[in-house]
Amino acid sequence: MSLYALGDLHLSFQSNKPMDKFGSVWKKHDEKILKYVNQIVGPEDTLVLTGDHSWGRNLMEAGKDLNFIENLPGRKILLRGNHDMFWDAKKTEKLNQLYEGRLEFLQNNFASYEDYALVGSKGYTFEGPFYLNSRGQITGWDEEREEEAKKLVKREMERLRKSFQMASDAGYQKFIMFLHYPPTNILEESSCFTEIAEEYGVKAVVYSHCHGESRFHDSIEGEYHGIEYHLVSGDYLRFRPKRIL
Ligand SMILES: [Fe+2]
Ligand SMILES: [Fe+2]
Repeated sequence: MSLYALGDLHLSFQSNKPMDKFGSVWKKHDEKILKYVNQIVGPEDTLVLTGDHSWGRNLMEAGKDLNFIENLPGRKILLRGNHDMFWDAKKTEKLNQLYEGRLEFLQNNFASYEDYALVGSKGYTFEGPFYLNSRGQITGWDEEREEEAKKLVKREMERLRKSFQMASDAGYQKFIMFLHYPPTNILEESSCFTEIAEEYGVKAVVYSHCHGESRFHDSIEGEYHGIEYHLVSGDYLRFRPKRIL
């Protein structure tokens, strides 16, 4: 029995959003997902999908994408990504009722895996725009957008803190934390997300959202302050789920 993670499937069985234009890794990527998830994940395993599941603009349009995920092996736990329009942040409970026994939606709650609590939220990261000089060094950024980002980070932190509290109240002492956005932006070495991970002594922080070679090293990967950080973006992993536990 293992815990795996993979992010950013960006499925579009009902919406016309070909991903091929983002590089050869995205060519027939749904077939790659099907092949590798079936090769790697067994029926007794758990797979956490870290957001950006579907291009569908609502639940109807995301139906086939969610069915595809449902038919993958193992227990499937989904995190909300910035493109998941089908997932109204206020209606997570409703989604959990609708897909009961088939898919689990992680937000303002937690999932148990052995003696671990799996805790997660979309998170948020300030992504610029950044202003560069002729040598490519960052000399400034859009401060108005940075202020906006701070508000979104605050809201996500409230959701995350609530989830940790629920898991902790239920008696859990071991945690794995999932985010869709990376835990730090390109200017930061630490953030409120790394701080809460350290506060709860999580074993690992798992995130995705970063696409393309130039974005794969935007945040922390590997061990930092005793915590493992894993980037699990689909294109980064070439759609092979990564074993977390
Ligand atoms: Fe994405
Ligand atoms: Fe994303």
